[in-house]
Amino acid sequence: MKKLVSAVVVSAELLNPAYLLLAVDVGENAEVSAGQFAMLTAPDVFLRRPFSVHDADGSVLSFLIKIAGSGTRGLAGLKIGDKISLLYPLGQGFRPSNKKAVLVGGGCGSAPLLLLARQLKNKPTVILGGRTKNDIVRQEIFARYAEVRITTEDGSLGIQGLVTAELKDLSIEHVVYACGPEPMLKSLYKLAQEKKFELQVSLESVMACGVGACLGCVTNTSQAGHVCVCTTGPVFAAEELTW
Ligand SMILES: Cc1cc2nc3c(=O)[nH]c(=O)nc-3n(C[C@H](O)[C@H](O)[C@H](O)COP(=O)(O)OP(=O)(O)OC[C@H]3O[C@@H](n4cnc5c(N)ncnc54)[C@H](O)[C@@H]3O)c2cc1C
Ligand code: FES
Repeated sequence: MKKLVSAVVVSAELLNPAYLLLAVDVGENAEVSAGQFAMLTAPDVFLRRPFSVHDADGSVLSFLIKIAGSGTRGLAGLKIGDKISLLYPLGQGFRPSNKKAVLVGGGCGSAPLLLLARQLKNKPTVILGGRTKNDIVRQEIFARYAEVRITTEDGSLGIQGLVTAELKDLSIEHVVYACGPEPMLKSLYKLAQEKKFELQVSLESVMACGVGACLGCVTNTSQAGHVCVCTTGPVFAAEELTW
């Protein structure tokens, strides 16, 4: 059940100039499924901002945050001991599957995949993709729970190219859990249709409330018509969406 808590910052580490790893203590055992998210109050901005739970350990939740604008810049200025208001756990996370799991994260889309890799019964493969090496973070932590492959568009780290190049051998035996930019998700959907693998995607729509009240995050689905990404998603089976 969702809760509004006043959390305490236990660490705020800039991994590079664009990525913040923020850990907060919510003061209770945090029960979160991989793919669920929280709405965080950022200093000096009106609306809360949505972030996937990157990791959960007892009462500590971590968030992997790409600095994009005023809200995320404010979060990057937080110090240990600061208080932050947080609404969690929100939305529907990734669904379990008995198939061989491949996790695909584009840029900050890798955020929800660490908790997923930790929660899966069998060791998955994780593919981290980015434009440059600066978009690839925490690969050594992922490597504790998964076989990690890296792609960058400019070849500055890992294989040069797009994440889809690493998925050519997939078949009906696989499930792909993906989060990242829309063009990446669209390419994955196309490939899933061709190779017949199961695909679940987490959408990062712009959100104002996170709880189904503002209708600011609506997306179209093939069976249920328009639904709120924040309550029905953010994770959807790819075939539920109208691409
Ligand atoms: C369910 C969900 C989970 C998310 N998880 C993460 C996460 O784990 N890590 C992370 O870094 N980001 C995540 N995001 C995106 C994150 O919420 C936005 O980047 C953030 O709200 C931007 O806030 P800002 O005030 O810094 O930027 P703003 O000043 O609001 O915007 C700056 C720029 O970012 C763009 N932007 C704003 N919101 C989004 C969005 N939702 N998606 C893509 N671009 C956006 C704007 O169009 C603008 O170009 C998630 C979004 C959703 C909906
Ligand atoms: S963000 Fe308000 S309804 Fe989804």
